[in-house]
Amino acid sequence: MTHLIDGKQISTDIKESLKVEVAKLKEKGINCVLAVIQVGEDPASKVYVRNKKRACEYIGIESISYELPEKTTQEELLEIIDKLNDDEKVNGILCQLPLPKHIDEDVVIKRISPQKDVDGFHPENVGALVIGQKGFVSCTPAGIIELLKRSNIDIDGKHCVIVGRSNIVGKPMALLMLRENATVTVCHSHTKNLKGITKTADILIVAIGKPKFINEEYVKDGAVVIDVGIHRQENKKLCGDVDFDSVCDKTSAITPVPGGVGPMTIAMLMHNCVEGAKNY
Ligand code: GUN
Repeated sequence: MTHLIDGKQISTDIKESLKVEVAKLKEKGINCVLAVIQVGEDPASKVYVRNKKRACEYIGIESISYELPEKTTQEELLEIIDKLNDDEKVNGILCQLPLPKHIDEDVVIKRISPQKDVDGFHPENVGALVIGQKGFVSCTPAGIIELLKRSNIDIDGKHCVIVGRSNIVGKPMALLMLRENATVTVCHSHTKNLKGITKTADILIVAIGKPKFINEEYVKDGAVVIDVGIHRQENKKLCGDVDFDSVCDKTSAITPVPGGVGPMTIAMLMHNCVEGAKNY
């Protein structure tokens, strides 16, 4: 029998303890304030932003919302970020991606003060992760480490195969697993013999953005499978990058979609906000 990794429950546990921590900080006169910026009308982004603001409210973090029109110029956005960087009341700044095409995401990410970059996307925070120094860590990969640890899954010395090499998930995931003493392989769209490699994984982390791409042929008996994907199927149900029904009997532990990795991203964002307020 596989163990179903309950991201919903684990994220709730994290949010509950953050709520207590935020209340204690308030007693000491420290407020947690997160600025959330969204540019344009991307429907998925709107849902994510709404969920992030809800989580803030639940935990006691004040969120300040900037809902900017699609036609906002890069200069206008940078001006807002400058203002938030200088605002002593604000200790976290999040600019929801993707941004409209006329805005250069790299420029925007770089403009956010690394000390307020609760997404962990700023090159300074990414660099800190590479050399094992303190800094904000990207929320989805940080959430996956929490899922594994709180499920008592051993990482040390294990072969971890990551499918996907994005800046937000794949690359920071590889660095975090390395920090936990895993042996790490990163696969991507140019990888040859993908199945041959994923079949050697003790821990398989999939973030490729293709519905049900990973079936039982890719998975070793007893592997732990972490599914980062989330897709709406024609029947309206959600599915991940992993074909859950095909794979689940082979695994020793697996994350469901929904209710696996997804809720952890927001829990870790809240964690980063609270850390930001403490270090401020
Ligand atoms: N778009 C998709 N995931 C994320 C995320 O974690 N943070 C931000 N800011 N935008 C995203």
